[in-house]
Amino acid sequence: MLDGFKILTVTHRRTSLQHIEKFVVPHTDESALQSCLEALKTGFGFDEMMYLATCNRVMFLFYTEKPLASTFPGKFFQAVNPGLSEKFISENVSLLEGRAAAEHLLKVASSVDSLVVGEREILRQLREAYERCLNWGLTGDHLRIAMQAAIVAAKEVYTETRLGEKPVSVVSLAVRELLKTRLPKTARILMVGAGQTNLLVAKFLAKNGFEKVVVFNRTLERAQRIATALKGRAFGFNELESYREGFDCLLVCTGATKAIIDNELYIKLLAGESDQKTVIDLSVPNNVSREILATNDVHLIEIEGLRALAEENLAFREQEVNAANKLLDLHLADFEASVRNRQIERALHQVPVEVKAVKEHALNKVFKKEIEVLDDATRELLGRMMEYMEKKCTGIPIKVAKEALASSVSVPA
Ligand SMILES: NC(=O)c1ccc[n+]([C@@H]2O[C@H](COP(=O)([O-])OP(=O)(O)OC[C@H]3O[C@@H](n4cnc5c(N)ncnc54)[C@H](OP(=O)(O)O)[C@@H]3O)[C@@H](O)[C@H]2O)c1
Repeated sequence: MLDGFKILTVTHRRTSLQHIEKFVVPHTDESALQSCLEALKTGFGFDEMMYLATCNRVMFLFYTEKPLASTFPGKFFQAVNPGLSEKFISENVSLLEGRAAAEHLLKVASSVDSLVVGEREILRQLREAYERCLNWGLTGDHLRIAMQAAIVAAKEVYTETRLGEKPVSVVSLAVRELLKTRLPKTARILMVGAGQTNLLVAKFLAKNGFEKVVVFNRTLERAQRIATALKGRAFGFNELESYREGFDCLLVCTGATKAIIDNELYIKLLAGESDQKTVIDLSVPNNVSREILATNDVHLIEIEGLRALAEENLAFREQEVNAANKLLDLHLADFEASVRNRQIERALHQVPVEVKAVKEHALNKVFKKEIEVLDDATRELLGRMMEYMEKKCTGIPIKVAKEALASSVSVPA
């Protein structure tokens, strides 16, 4: 029933974050990403496809009823990044099919599979990834049903278990690390990027009283939104190159798929200062080139380094993960039922057309002569009766088929 759903994924469970970034679809802007995804979908003959890249996973969810050859993951990721070897791909990529794919999707949405279990950002990221692929015409009815199931399941996990209690996230753990450095509240913070992640970082900075923040972003209005909340200053991304006021903490997080701060730019931003700087890079792929570590005194906070904290968090939530998994089993059964119902609806979509044709044939051919001799009131009554029969007959096969299938399906205990 779920055979057509497939997932190709690379996650923090098997792979270091430095390696995950190699599986990200490289792109310079949204339209370049759209073209790459369209080419992958067409090239591999998928019916539907969506792409999610977060700080701890890359995931392609797709629908195809065609069987996949064992060489498929290698071919697919070499199309994403020709520099990847087949060995490297097979060591890091998981291919999940059917029920396993559906189960994984539900676990991702409800953050059971996250690096920081219980964080809620993933649901927003998943929704945004889906909506983007929907708008680009990459998805259809199958992924719509899958996403609907994933969202409903995740919401229930968040409300019915204590998994999301005392919310934590990659961002909150990074800020926790920042606070450990005991930077004064007057420290100069240079923030690059003004997306959802930095918006969240900004909330933590405000809560902890940091008061000297400068924000750079491609879209100035988004930088201004954050700067205003922090009573800081905002600039366009292209002004970063000429910024010479120095910094104590450089905080970079954008959607760029390669380093946007290389050693040369980093040295310019230092403005001649040589004391230790804190650098927070939460982007995957990294946005700050690691070459800065060789020649500069840097205390680096990056997602890979937060793994230990994330594992402590998992120990705290372990019991809740079990409760969440039980709930997800029930949602998986619901998902299977929705897919089944939809399949029946698709298979039976011809029924209304056929029933209507029978009615028209009866009225206009088989009983034409008899009807012609009826008075107006009787003809009108007969017409209404036939309409009524048409509507009822249309619904009967769908109802019967759904009931028959429902009674033949065992419900998990
Ligand atoms: N959300 C999380 O929980 C989380 C946690 C840790 C790490 N991350 C990572 O953080 C990164 C950003 O995620 P997000 O959710 O904040 O994304 P987002 O809301 O889409 O924001 C993307 C930001 O990056 C900027 N940007 C995109 N491409 C750029 C480029 N080529 N050059 C310069 N700036 C560019 C955008 O500028 P415009 O405003 O001009 O478009 C925007 O400020 C990703 O690598 C993600 O994996 C996310």
